[in-house]
Amino acid sequence: MERILVTGGTGYIGSHTIIELYKKGYEVDVLDNLFNSKIEVLDKIEKICGKRPGFYKIDLCDYGKMDELFKKNQYDLVMHFAGLKAVGESVEKPLEYYENNVSGTINLLKCMQKHNVNKIIFSSSATVYGDPGDPKYVETMETGRGLTNPYGKTKYMIEEILKDCAKADSNLQVVLLRYFNPIGNHPSGLLGEDPNGIPNNLMPIIMKVARGEIKELSIYGDDYPTPDGTCLRDYIHVVDLAKGHVSVVDKMEPGVLIYNLGSGRTTSVLEMVRAFEKASGEKLAYKIAERRDGDLAEFYADPSKAMRELGWETELTVDDAMEDTLKFLNNS
Ligand code: NAD
Ligand code: UFG
Repeated sequence: MERILVTGGTGYIGSHTIIELYKKGYEVDVLDNLFNSKIEVLDKIEKICGKRPGFYKIDLCDYGKMDELFKKNQYDLVMHFAGLKAVGESVEKPLEYYENNVSGTINLLKCMQKHNVNKIIFSSSATVYGDPGDPKYVETMETGRGLTNPYGKTKYMIEEILKDCAKADSNLQVVLLRYFNPIGNHPSGLLGEDPNGIPNNLMPIIMKVARGEIKELSIYGDDYPTPDGTCLRDYIHVVDLAKGHVSVVDKMEPGVLIYNLGSGRTTSVLEMVRAFEKASGEKLAYKIAERRDGDLAEFYADPSKAMRELGWETELTVDDAMEDTLKFLNNS
């Protein structure tokens, strides 16, 4: 059975993926610097799965410590979630983003090469498509054009680095998973999205409004060319996303595989507010604000490649995600 190193494993998507990996019997170690997550996540994983991953508090930028880790442990596969992900912050602190995400990944790849680990699954993003004109994103579309922020550029650059590495090393097996908009949490309500600091994604902000930590949600624009004027996104339940990772492990082969992980359906910001209100039974305070720079009116996944080749598709809905979010809110 494969032994997997999960970078960013105490984070939101990594922790949910570990639960699904345990269900399939994989062994897991976590590497995380805890910049955006808490060590208590490991207790929650243990409570849910009865198993606790090995944990290494290491920064991707610390090559020496990573080298030690790979020297001591033989991994079959790396799932690489670790990275900074705040789009707005990346505009203000580009060097931090390029160093952490790009240099950090180069360190990881050097360690993998040195210690003969030849499989990597990378957390990429729909953002790599830039602004292709067509809102339905297909894996064959050109990437990298029209990227407006350093965060998105790091995802594109890392994809390109991984493709080049796979060209240079015929043993290397790379999977690029392009996530759409992950929401929700484990149905136990124990684990959820709990970022350190001020969030900028929609769901964590809705959660903070519900908790009374933020006065109201600002909806960024209601004059888009969409049915209710607010932006449309493809929201994917994080448990479905986690299962997508597991479905690809057995399908890996030398070279690069690329999959969109999304539902293929869209929901507007106002519909998200209504769905949250339905689950909570309470009104959510919001106001209509100016458009946010860089937002597209609409984009969603063509998930047919993942369905065809991995036998994976989303099973959970936005309403399921809202109910699970409520459980997490009531638990925390
Ligand atoms: P997260 O912030 O919850 O998890 C990322 C984890 O990586 C955190 O625990 C953080 O402490 C750790 N980390 C960051 N820099 C590190 C470093 N230099 N060394 C070691 N650990 C480090 O984020 P998430 O939502 O779970 O996202 C996981 C991955 O998926 C990220 O790469 C993100 O860019 C990507 N992604 C996320 C979304 C989303 O909306 N959540 C969408 C598309 C892609
Ligand atoms: N939104 C608001 N108010 C807020 C926050 C968000 O109205 O306070 C709206 C946005 O305008 C957008 C929608 O809610 O229409 C979703 O916004 P998010 O910030 O949650 O997500 P994005 O679609 O902007 O970004 C996501 C990922 C990024 C990725 C990008 C493109 O979070 O990592 O998709 O793939 F880069």
